Amino acid sequence: MQKIRKAVFPVAGMGTRFLPATKANPKEMLPVVDKPLIQYAAEEAVAAGIDTLIFITGRNKRSIEDHFDKAYELETELLADGKDTMLNMVQNILPGDVKCIYIRQSEPLGLGHAVLCAKPVVGDDPFAVLLADDLVDNDAYGCTSQMVDVYEKEKCGVVGVQEVKKEEVKSYGVIAGNKIQDNLWDVDTFVEKPDPEDAPSNVAVVGRYLLEPSIFKILEETGKGAGGEIQLTDALATQAKSEKLLAYKFEGKRYDCGSKLGYLEATVELAMKHGGIGKRFTNYLQQRIK
Ligand code: G1P
Repeated sequence: MQKIRKAVFPVAGMGTRFLPATKANPKEMLPVVDKPLIQYAAEEAVAAGIDTLIFITGRNKRSIEDHFDKAYELETELLADGKDTMLNMVQNILPGDVKCIYIRQSEPLGLGHAVLCAKPVVGDDPFAVLLADDLVDNDAYGCTSQMVDVYEKEKCGVVGVQEVKKEEVKSYGVIAGNKIQDNLWDVDTFVEKPDPEDAPSNVAVVGRYLLEPSIFKILEETGKGAGGEIQLTDALATQAKSEKLLAYKFEGKRYDCGSKLGYLEATVELAMKHGGIGKRFTNYLQQRIK
């Protein structure tokens, strides 16, 4: 069985929910405390043994490439000023053996289309997909690492899920399937953003997928779905008809950083446990809400 070595990061979205902050800057570069969202996702993938990061980019996304590239001027200045800790941090955003590949999605045709853009690089290998605006906090055992362990044990595609309130299902892809363990479902089908009354369950897909490469052929034949976009969820529904596909409820807190509230929750909670400012920030909050 092949190991999962490649991860796809669809980052071509417009980030309209954060305008005007995202007018010229990608939403994936919004910082949570001191790291951009995309770095949390990249670190989670690397911790799971992934060494090839494939970014599906669009207009205004140059700063993502710059973030993972060498920064000669900055590094030269930090070196000259003897700021070794900062230099080290800037030089080690990713381990040296990790490759970054950028593919441009020229039209915003949906998440399914973005994933399909990775086909020439992914080829016949199984791969991960991570949506950076879903930040999953679990330092000890990252969400992608957990899913890789399920993938290796069960030898089939795995999607990350969480249970949400019934009225929230319309923001997610939702599964229908049999619960086979406390945290595992055998998926029959998926529905993208259903109305609560039509939803087959309250088990919602969050932005983590481990996929077999057979998904590419299915995506090529998948027409427009919800919102007039080519949906990954629709292709997964087709794949689930002929292949085993599991939904895994991961351990860790997921923040919806695609929404202002979720982004602020992530910022506050990660700031409270931050090595440098955590204690002082928590004190500040305690004073502030008295
Ligand atoms: C995408 C997927 C959806 C999934 C969600 C998780 O939707 O299409 O199935 O539940 O991510 O964040 P988006 O949030 O991009 O509209």
